Amino acid sequence: MRAWILEEQAKIETRPLKLEEVPLPHTGDDQVRIKVLVCGVCRTDIHIAEGDLPLKKSPVVLGHEIVGVVDEVGKNVKRFSIGDRAGVYWLYSSCKKCKYCLSQRENYCPYFKATGWDEDGGYAEYISVSEDYVLPLNHVQLEPDEIAPLMCPGIAGYAAFKLTEAQKGYKLGLYGFGPTAYFVLKVAEFMGIETYVSTRSLKNIEGAKREGANWAADSSKEKMPCKLDAAIIFPPAGNLVEPALSQLEKGGTLVMAPVSASPIVINNYSENLWGHSIKSLYHVKRDDAEEFFNMVGSLNLNITTSQFPFEELQDVLILVKQGKTEQPNAVIKVAD
Ligand SMILES: NC(=O)c1ccc[n+]([C@@H]2O[C@H](COP(=O)([O-])OP(=O)(O)OC[C@H]3O[C@@H](n4cnc5c(N)ncnc54)[C@H](OP(=O)(O)O)[C@@H]3O)[C@@H](O)[C@H]2O)c1
Ligand SMILES: [Zn+2]
Ligand SMILES: [Zn+2]
Repeated sequence: MRAWILEEQAKIETRPLKLEEVPLPHTGDDQVRIKVLVCGVCRTDIHIAEGDLPLKKSPVVLGHEIVGVVDEVGKNVKRFSIGDRAGVYWLYSSCKKCKYCLSQRENYCPYFKATGWDEDGGYAEYISVSEDYVLPLNHVQLEPDEIAPLMCPGIAGYAAFKLTEAQKGYKLGLYGFGPTAYFVLKVAEFMGIETYVSTRSLKNIEGAKREGANWAADSSKEKMPCKLDAAIIFPPAGNLVEPALSQLEKGGTLVMAPVSASPIVINNYSENLWGHSIKSLYHVKRDDAEEFFNMVGSLNLNITTSQFPFEELQDVLILVKQGKTEQPNAVIKVAD
């Protein structure tokens, strides 16, 4: 099969990925082999390629927003048949034995393996994955390229949303309005939760209003009209933490979505932190992924993607890094 291989990390502009012919992945007894139809492009792929995150195997195939069709099943597989539509996301596998795995919190498993980082991912014609970590997608009435962004921003956004413990009637703040915040806004809308979006660019302010936010502006320039029950910060900007805390009601929760952040300073404990909680999102887990996909059909989604041929992946990664794709979600088409 053909696969894009990364052997050594380097700036994406130096084109470190190579398209090569490699053996088809072996399908273990509890695994399914998936013929990849599309794989969404994520900034994390660039962080791995460039060395912001360590290289965990070499060569490695990147890509963790995978939508495809089951093409071979191992002899112990029960949940999937050949021809089923299936997806693979960031969680490739976990140990199934530790205290976290035994309490449905495999996102904290010390043996958590990430797709397209610890194990080969979706910028290839096929991938083999244990059936326990494959998402069934036969029930999702969307095109494969529309499903791909659900696999990372969608699931991660839903996981961050759950950490807020927001319920019907709550007021939820969203700081930053990228693809992840978009999905949270749609889940909140479905659940009868009001959304207050603080983002800097006019494009994102207008986007948030168009998608149904109750209020959208840059809160560093225009004060939010009310206190919030919970909030999520999406960009890696530690300087947003204290202003976001100051906007919370007592008992409110602030969730940090990023994987890294600039320094966080809280100057006024009594005013801004006392009586509030801060949580951070750490990877994703299976029940979040499955719950989100069971909800997708009820969400009023309007997903637009820029699609590119498989052979152009290396160019697309450069475009994504520069923020030059037409749509916020870039998707690589691997097969029809
Ligand atoms: N924790 C996990 O396991 C996990 C898993 C998946 C994703 N994530 C994280 O989820 C986050 C969301 O990703 P995303 O791609 O949807 O969003 P993003 O592009 O990283 O950021 C969202 C928006 O935040 C605003 N922004 C950027 N820098 C800012 C700054 N310094 N101050 C204020 N606003 C700023 C931008 O909008 P404006 O220009 O309009 O302000 C941007 O569109 C990422 O940080 C990603 O790492 C985490
Ligand atoms: Zn991702
Ligand atoms: Zn475990």
